Amino acid sequence: MSSIDLAVIGGSGLYKFPGLENTARHAVDTPYGSASGDVVIGDFAGKRVAFLARHGESHSLPPHRVNYRANLWALHSLGARKVIGVNAVGGIRADMGPRVIVVPDQVIDYTHGRYSSFCDVDGAEVKHIDFSEPYTESLRQILLTAAAKAGIAVIAGGCYGATQGPRLETRAEIARMKRDGCDLVGMTGMPEASLARELELQYACLALVANFAAGCGDEAEISIDEIFAHLAAATAEVPRILAALLES
Ligand code: HPA
Repeated sequence: MSSIDLAVIGGSGLYKFPGLENTARHAVDTPYGSASGDVVIGDFAGKRVAFLARHGESHSLPPHRVNYRANLWALHSLGARKVIGVNAVGGIRADMGPRVIVVPDQVIDYTHGRYSSFCDVDGAEVKHIDFSEPYTESLRQILLTAAAKAGIAVIAGGCYGATQGPRLETRAEIARMKRDGCDLVGMTGMPEASLARELELQYACLALVANFAAGCGDEAEISIDEIFAHLAAATAEVPRILAALLES
């Protein structure tokens, strides 16, 4: 039985977990190098929660430099079995505008040059995971039920397109992603989801829309200040959703 009920990987705008009490910090040495920072384990809503800031607590790691393998390894080695990745995204679909929260159900990976498998080291056993459904459906459903219980509107389903970053995309890139079937665009959803699957972790994504992706809104340009303002508003809902999840 795992001593951690839920692990949360915080994205841009979520560097500390509000309300996490009686915390202890864990610096985990992994075979893949350092995680983004200490894993903070504490009590929240009567349960044990582990929190890790994906970009570091002072947002010093851009998406392509996050050590996704070390992060997931660290959470797994501390006993986490259920992981929620909180990710800032741009909305491509018309109903996925700023401040909307989405629990996506599909992924297209446009990233490159990231260590994307635990098999990627000499001598490792080659493991082919089924990734038809990139997120753990039962955990997605638990998340959706929790949001409903908390009275927070969340869109169920959508395809997350993972881009390399750290720059935002061109209009042409987003138009292509739209043709491909992407509803959201973000820079950190992969390889986090597939690495979680390799470790047999349950994993779901809580995507917080910070802006309309390039060419999808009315603005000619995307304002980074507005991104962070929208993100702060959406992030404020996260603890309530997770409290409802843990209380049920
Ligand atoms: N593109 C990629 N990642 C993002 C965006 C975006 O428009 N907004 C927030 N994260």
